[in-house]
Amino acid sequence: MSKRFYITTAIDYVNGHPHLGHAYEKVVADVIARARRSLGREVFFLTGLDEHGQKVQQAAVAEGKKPQAYCDELAAVWQAFAARLNLSHDDFVRTTQPRHRQIVQAILAKLHAEGHFYRETYRGFYSTRQETFLTHKDRLPDGSFDPSWGEVVELEEENYYFKLKDHQSWLIDHIERNPAFICPDARRNEVLGFLRNNVLEDLCISRPATRLNWGIPLPFDPDYVTYVWFDALANYITIPAAQGDPGVPGPLRPPVSPGGHPLALWPADVHLIGKDIVKFHAVYWPIMLKAMGAPLPRQVLVHGWWQKDGQRMSKSTGNVVDPVAVIDEWGVDAFRFYVLRELDIGPDGNWTEAGFEARYAAELANGLGNLVNRSLSMLKRYRSGVVPGVAKELAPDAERAIAETLSRLEQNQLQGALQAIWSLITRANQYVDQTAPFKLAKDPARAESLDQVLYSLAETCRILAVLLWPFLPDTAGKIYAQLGLPGAPDRAAAARWGQLPAGHAIGTPAPLFPRKEI
Ligand code: ME8
Ligand code: MG
Repeated sequence: MSKRFYITTAIDYVNGHPHLGHAYEKVVADVIARARRSLGREVFFLTGLDEHGQKVQQAAVAEGKKPQAYCDELAAVWQAFAARLNLSHDDFVRTTQPRHRQIVQAILAKLHAEGHFYRETYRGFYSTRQETFLTHKDRLPDGSFDPSWGEVVELEEENYYFKLKDHQSWLIDHIERNPAFICPDARRNEVLGFLRNNVLEDLCISRPATRLNWGIPLPFDPDYVTYVWFDALANYITIPAAQGDPGVPGPLRPPVSPGGHPLALWPADVHLIGKDIVKFHAVYWPIMLKAMGAPLPRQVLVHGWWQKDGQRMSKSTGNVVDPVAVIDEWGVDAFRFYVLRELDIGPDGNWTEAGFEARYAAELANGLGNLVNRSLSMLKRYRSGVVPGVAKELAPDAERAIAETLSRLEQNQLQGALQAIWSLITRANQYVDQTAPFKLAKDPARAESLDQVLYSLAETCRILAVLLWPFLPDTAGKIYAQLGLPGAPDRAAAARWGQLPAGHAIGTPAPLFPRKEI
C-alpha cells in the first residue's frame, strides 16, 4: 500500500452560510488534488465542517434548535455547496461524527495518561466570540479590548492545560530546518519571529460543561468538554486513523474491520488554510502531533484573504460576494477561473465585479472560448470534422507551455500554471489570425497548408483540455467531448503533441463561454 498524497482544507464553522473565502480555499485545494491525480499520484482530499463550540451552540439556541439538528441542517447546505464548486474531495468530515469523536477522545486519554496536561484555576478575561482567554497584553492603551474579540467577560474557572513550554525549541528547529514546512516564506518568518520572541503560554484545552456543553467530553473528566480548536485540528488525523492508516500511531487507531480497506495517508502533504489561523496550524498542531507520537505534516500552505471592492466583507454591511449567485449566473468554471487567476496563494485579493467581467470577456469568452470554437468550427466546415494528417506548427509553443504548466503544478503554483496555459491560448489565437485559414480555404492549391493549420489548432485544443482539467474540469470535459474524444482529459501524460490521430472524426462545436451583454 503506497502512501497517498493527502491534502486537507480548514474545516469551516457550520454557523452560517459559505462565502467567497470558504469557496476560494476549497477550490484551491481541489485544483491541487486534481493536478496531483493528473500527474499520476493517488490522492486523498479531505474537507469538512467544524461543528462544536460556543459559536455553534449560541447560533442554535438563537434559532430555537437543538445543536445537532441545527448542524445537520446546515451541513446539508455546505455539502451541496461543495458539489456546486465541483470539488473532488474523497471524504467530508463533520466533527460531530462518532468516528471523529472517538479518536479525539483516544488522543486526549493518551496525552493525559502521559502527563501532558495539568489542571489549574484561571482568573481573567475571556472572549466568547473567539473562544479564547485574553491577557493584559491584549488590551488597548485605554484598557478596553479590541471590538474584534466581541464581548469580553471576566471569569474565574478551573481548566485543563496542555504544557507547551518544552516544545518551543524543537519546533523552532523544525521550522528552520524545513523551509517548505510553512509556505509562503512571509508566513514562515512570521511564525519564526513569534516563536523566537515569545515564551509559549500553555494552552487551555477544556471548557467546563456548565458553561459550554456542545463539545466532546474529556474522557478523564466528564465535567469538561474539549476546547473547540483541539477538537477541530484533530480532524486531520482522526479521519486517517478511522481508515486504519498505518501512518497513525497504533494506540490511536481502531482495528481495521474485516473487509475494511486501510489507506496510507498520514502525514498530510498539504494543510491548506487562511492567514488568520496560522498559529493554530504551525504552532499548536505540530506540538499536539509530537505529543501524540505522530509525524508532522509536510506543509502548512497559507492563502490570503479576499476583500470586496477594497473593503472587508461583512454581512452586516452587505458587502459580500455570494459564490452561489456568481455560479448561477456565470457557471462554476468562470468562478473557479477568476479566483485562481486573480489571486496567487499567499497575498490578499480584491474581488470587483468589473474585474470579474473583464477576465470573463477577455480570457474566457474571447481567449479560450473563441479559440476552441473557431478551431473546431473550421475543421467541421473545411474538412467535415475529420482530423487531417499530423502537423507540427504549434508544437514548440505547446511543448513550452506544457513543461511550464506541469512544473508549476508540481510546486502548487496555480496562478503561474494558468499564465503558462494562457500564453498558449494567446499564441494559438494569433496563429489563426496570421495564417488566415478562411483565405486558405478559398485556394485549392493551399489545401495542404490548411490541413496543417487545422491539425495544429485541433491538437492545441486537445492539449489545452488536458492542461485545464485541474482548474476547469467541466470546460476541459466539454472540449474533449467536442473533439469527439472519449473519457476525461484527466491524465497529464496525454499532454504530448501528436496524439490526436489523423482521420479521427470530431464532435459538435458549441460555445464554451457565451459572450454576455454587460
Ligand atoms: O477558522 N478570504 O473556520 P472559518 C479568504 N473552523 N479566506 C477566508 C476568508 C476570506 N475573506 N474568510 C475566511 C475556522 N477564510 C475554523 C478552522 S481548521 C482545523 C478549523 C478562510 O469558517 C479562513 O482563513 O472561520 C479559514 O481557512 C477558512 O476560511 C474557514 O474559516
Ligand atoms: Mg473565521
